[in-house]
Amino acid sequence: MNDLTPNSETPILEGEDLRKTYRLGRVKVPVLHGASVSIQEGEWVAILGASGSGKSTLLHLLAGLDKPDLDSGDIRYRGSKVELQNGGETNHYRNRTIGFVFQFYHLLPELDVLENGMLANLVPRGRKSGILILVMALIGAVIGAWLGLLAAGDWGLLPLEERTPIRSIVLSGACAVIGSGTMIVLIQMVQAVILRTRMRSGEAADVARSTLGDFGLGQRYRHRPRELSGGERQRVAIGRALGSDPDLLLADEPTGNLDERTGTEILELLKKKHEKGLTIVMVTHDPKVAEYANRVVRLKNGRVVSDSVQNSVVGEMPSLDEGHETFS
Ligand SMILES: Nc1ncnc2c1ncn2[C@@H]1O[C@H](COP(=O)(O)OP(=O)(O)O)[C@@H](O)[C@H]1O
Ligand SMILES: [Mg+2]
Repeated sequence: MNDLTPNSETPILEGEDLRKTYRLGRVKVPVLHGASVSIQEGEWVAILGASGSGKSTLLHLLAGLDKPDLDSGDIRYRGSKVELQNGGETNHYRNRTIGFVFQFYHLLPELDVLENGMLANLVPRGRKSGILILVMALIGAVIGAWLGLLAAGDWGLLPLEERTPIRSIVLSGACAVIGSGTMIVLIQMVQAVILRTRMRSGEAADVARSTLGDFGLGQRYRHRPRELSGGERQRVAIGRALGSDPDLLLADEPTGNLDERTGTEILELLKKKHEKGLTIVMVTHDPKVAEYANRVVRLKNGRVVSDSVQNSVVGEMPSLDEGHETFS
């Protein structure tokens, strides 16, 4: 985890009075009606609720993947409001502070296990990449325009009798567009080569090898996601989420697509990470899965209806104090 000074008073992550309304054309779909949740460093919190109760929406807001309504409250990380503008700081929060695990893994099929595992560490840091492309495109346009003028003039591309200012400008403009396009393609090719090189060697590869090795995937680095079982894919996805050494892991139904035995393997793996200090927020519809957590926040129709500490964890007898209602 990173080395910001932990403060046991200030929650590591808070969502206060979160509201979210989706809009489908003119139809408003209110999903969260002022949900609040507060996570202390080192906790494993389960957000438990029926399908459609707004769990994924809440987790996406906490992760900065979506914005709450304008009249909504705030999301705070270590006491500071998370500003969800597009920019380096927000990208840093999404990519490095938070590790996110999706129910359906969302691995990139054309990348192998190791490359997928490295992704979080290879995401461009902030705005620099966009600015570089813009500057290079402008340089390409200027060079193109200049070559266009030369072509129209001294190089004699336009015969003397056809040479008019308008034609020269049109030729120069066309060359400017071609120049800036060529530059964008070139810079992207260079970035792809650099990315490949960083993938094969570099720190990102070492981190991914170590994490994925710990997850029992040491023999599978060169396999593509389609060659893996569901449990293995989810392990790669968790490895990817942990690859940037995030402060918190947010997991949306991490076992929701797995059979019970494989799901238990994944939960045991999360348990080991939690025991080593990882803060986890996990969404689930399954009270049995929630038993792994230290605290269960129940969500019903977009509202938090209960918040109870429990003595985790499985291995002992389950002890959810409010009984085992079954969600579907
Ligand atoms: N992008 C969206 N646009 C419109 N409605 C959505 C969108 N995402 C989710 N919803 C609706 O919001 C409600 C809650 O969704 P979700 O947060 O995914 O619930 P859960 O994860 O608890 O199953 C559902 O009724 C769902 O149909
Ligand atoms: Mg969901």
